[in-house]
Amino acid sequence: MPNDTLTITDNRTGKTYEVPIADDTIRAIDLRQIKVAADDFGLMTYDPGFLNTASCKSRITFIDGDKGILEYRGYPIAQLAEQSSFLEVCLLLRKGELPKAAELAQWTAEVTANAGVQASIEKLTDGFQSDAHPMGMFIASAAALATLYPESKKISDLEVRNNAFRQLVAKVPTIAALGYRHAKGLPFVQPDPELSYAGNFLNMMFATPGVKYKPNPALERAMDILFTLHADHEQNCSTSTMRVVGSAQTDPYTSLAAAAAALYGPLHGGANEAVLTMLAKIGTKDNIPEFITRVKAGEGKLMGFGHRVYKNYDPRAGIIKRAADEVFAVTGKNPALDIAIELERIALEDEYFVKRKLYPNVDFYSGIIYEAMGFPTAMFTVLFAIGRTIGWMSQWEELVLDADQKIARPRQIFLGPRRLDYVPMDQRA
Ligand code: SDX
Repeated sequence: MPNDTLTITDNRTGKTYEVPIADDTIRAIDLRQIKVAADDFGLMTYDPGFLNTASCKSRITFIDGDKGILEYRGYPIAQLAEQSSFLEVCLLLRKGELPKAAELAQWTAEVTANAGVQASIEKLTDGFQSDAHPMGMFIASAAALATLYPESKKISDLEVRNNAFRQLVAKVPTIAALGYRHAKGLPFVQPDPELSYAGNFLNMMFATPGVKYKPNPALERAMDILFTLHADHEQNCSTSTMRVVGSAQTDPYTSLAAAAAALYGPLHGGANEAVLTMLAKIGTKDNIPEFITRVKAGEGKLMGFGHRVYKNYDPRAGIIKRAADEVFAVTGKNPALDIAIELERIALEDEYFVKRKLYPNVDFYSGIIYEAMGFPTAMFTVLFAIGRTIGWMSQWEELVLDADQKIARPRQIFLGPRRLDYVPMDQRA
C-alpha cells in the first residue's frame, strides 16, 4: 500500500477510500467522493476562520509559530532587519533573491522617481473631513490609483505588473502623508528625491514647507526597519483578502485597497492603535493587575497579545523592542513603554496567558515607537500598510502566476428553511 495516502472508512456505509497525501495535506476536493447516496454532493470540510486550511502554495514567507521563526524567502527576519534595507527586502520578497547592486540602484531610482501623486489624488484627500481616519483616506486613495492606471487590469502583462509594483511601493508613503497633513490642516509636502525611502516619508509627514528636511538618522533607520518587519507575513487576513479579490482578476490597486480594508480591523493591523489606547486607559502600572483580571473575566482582550500562528514570542516584537532604545535615545523615553513591559511581565507569568500561549505580537511595541516618533495613533495602521504593500503585491503576483489557482468561492453548510411558499401581506401574522 502506498505510504503517502490516508485510508478513510465511512462508517455510514462501511466503504473505504484512499486519499493521497502531499505536502502534509490532502486536497479537500478528494473528500467529495465520500457519499452515502450516489446523488449526494459528497463530503466537504468545515473550517471557519481557516484555522487548518492551506489556501495556496507559496515560496515567499515561512513562519514556524511554535518556534517563533519568520523568514522572508529563507532569510531570517532578524538578519534582514539588521543588515538589509526595506527597498532591498522589496526586491527579495518579489523576486526571491537578494538583488545585485545595479538592480537595487535601478529599483531605488524607479521608486524615487514615482513618489509623487497626481493632482486628483491630492484633491481626493482634500475632500475628506478633517477628522477622517487616515486608514479611510489610504483605502480610498489606493482604489483611486486604479482609475489612473486603467491598463493595470491586464494582470498577465509583466510590464503592467512591474508598473503596479513601482507605483504602489512608491506612492503609499505619499498617500499616507497626504492623509496626515490633511487631518492636521497642514500644506502637503512634495517628495524629496534626495532622501531615502524612509527619510522621504518622514519629510512628507513632518517637514516645514520650504525648509529642507533633514531626517534624524536614528529615526530614519528605525522607520526603515519597521517597514521591513511589516513587509510580509504569509497568509494573514489582509494578504488572504488580497488573494481572494485578486483571484477574480481584479486589478492590483483595487485588490490592495481591499487588503488594506482587512488590515484596518482591530484584530489585525488595527491592533497597534488599540494597544496605545489600552495602555492610555491603564494609565499606571498600579492599574495593571485589575486590567488583567478584567481581561481574564472576558471583558476585552489584551491588545497586541496572541496570534493565530505564533504560539511563541513573535520575533518581530523582540526586534521592535530592541529598536525602541535607538528611538528613545533621540526622542526621550515613551512612558507607555514601562507600562507595556510590566504588562508583558505580568501576563507572561499568568496561567491564563501561558495556557493559551499568548505572547506579544508585532503590534504590542510598534505603536510605542511610532508615538515617540511623533505619529498620532490614528496613523499606526497606515504605517503597517506602507510596509505590507510589498507583501500584498508579491503574494498577489504569486497568485496570478499560479496555475493551481481559481476564483475563490468557498461553499457553506446551509441551515436555513427550504421551499417556502410566498405569503401575501394580508395573510402575514
Ligand atoms: C496581526 O495573521 C497574521 O500574521 C497577522 C499579523 C501580520 O503580520 O499580518 O501578525 C498582524 O494581526 C497581529 C495580531 C494583532 N491583533 C491583536 O493583537 C488583537 C488581540 N489578539 C487577539 O484578538 C487574537 O489573539 C488574534 C486575533 C490575534 C488571534 O485570534 P485566534 O487565533 O482566533 O485565537 P482565539 O481568538 O480563538 O483565542 C484563543 C483563546 C481564546 O480564549 P478561550 O476561548 O480559549 O477561553 O485565547 C484567548 C481567546 O479569548 N485570547 C485572548 C487574546 N487572544 C486570544 N485573550 C485575551 N487577550 C488576547 N489578546
